[in-house]
Amino acid sequence: MKSVAVLPGDGIGPEVVSAVLPVLDRMGLPLEFRFGEVGWTSWCETGNAVPQSTWDLLAETDTCLLGAITSKPLREAEAELAEHLRGTGLRYVSPVVQLRQKLSLYANVRPVADVHADRFAFSVIRENTEGLYAGLDFHGLGPALWDVVKDHPNAAATGPELTSATLRLQTQFGIDRLLRFGFEHARQNGYRLLSLADKPNVLRESSNHLRGRLELISQEYPEIETEILNVDALALWMVRRPERFGVIVAENMFGDILSDLGAGVMGGLGLAPSGNIGEHGSYFEPVHGSAPSMAGRQKANPMALFLTASQLLRHLDLPAPAEQIRSAVRAVARARRAVTYDLGGTATTPVAAAAVEKALSGTVEVRQATVI
Ligand code: IPM
Ligand code: MN
Repeated sequence: MKSVAVLPGDGIGPEVVSAVLPVLDRMGLPLEFRFGEVGWTSWCETGNAVPQSTWDLLAETDTCLLGAITSKPLREAEAELAEHLRGTGLRYVSPVVQLRQKLSLYANVRPVADVHADRFAFSVIRENTEGLYAGLDFHGLGPALWDVVKDHPNAAATGPELTSATLRLQTQFGIDRLLRFGFEHARQNGYRLLSLADKPNVLRESSNHLRGRLELISQEYPEIETEILNVDALALWMVRRPERFGVIVAENMFGDILSDLGAGVMGGLGLAPSGNIGEHGSYFEPVHGSAPSMAGRQKANPMALFLTASQLLRHLDLPAPAEQIRSAVRAVARARRAVTYDLGGTATTPVAAAAVEKALSGTVEVRQATVI
């Protein structure tokens, strides 16, 4: 029996979790679900978006399923803190960023598949711990950083106090483990092409570094073809010819943007799953956020969470139920049943979840998967 921490989080998170979890429960999976707190309420009341009890829960469980969380800019976050905590210097750090960094969940795997017509299936693997989101972000530069930028004409015209700068951190340690993860993912899922999203025509030094590591590590995976694409061109091709891709590996910000684009290519954020994976831990979440304007209305699409649960089950080495859920979601999507607002329909969250549950016992694919 494996254990899964369930963190419903904010906004539509608890709604999609309460629609999907009972369906998983009734599948009789060999899993124990244990609930925990994360997100905005926790920040406002305690000054910490991830309370200690949740870190303890994560340490005791095999993996985690997260609903959705709200992220707001610093100023808004500080204004919403409980009165006794205001002015104490507490700073909001998005819980997902905390989980990824503290647990070193370096690979963010975001599968992009055509659930309606099977025209394409690829994975965006986003680096999760460094790159442009490493947190090396400064407004008003100290002497060391100023020395680096002072010769840029705009900086020279501005001065250190009114200049901001963000460092795109790329370490060989981070690059190598990400590339290896990407190649292993390609191997396990039968992908023949690994595309590295970068910007070698502008970021010459850091791109050269990446190229060198890719050339070296790709020798361990001779059956997988590699290419380096400019990230902007890759975005174009993802829309024009999504079927050409297998695994796309990208630094943190490029991957953040490309994976939302991938969700758009799938049909919307209501369909996009993801997993955050490291050497010693993992958590799984839909790519969508907490959609505050939709919260409390039972309108959110639960398919992204179903597909996320499927990804989680595969990670826990339960491929049969993982495939059952994936097939059921596809059957519902193909039949254009229980369509939620994001895809142009009027079905509620529970109605969409019920359609998946019905398909779980009703489709041919599901019966085949059950026999495995
Ligand atoms: C995501 C989200 C997060 C990110 C935010 C909420 C910090 O957009 O998971 O893609 O950018 O990593
Ligand atoms: Mn994002």
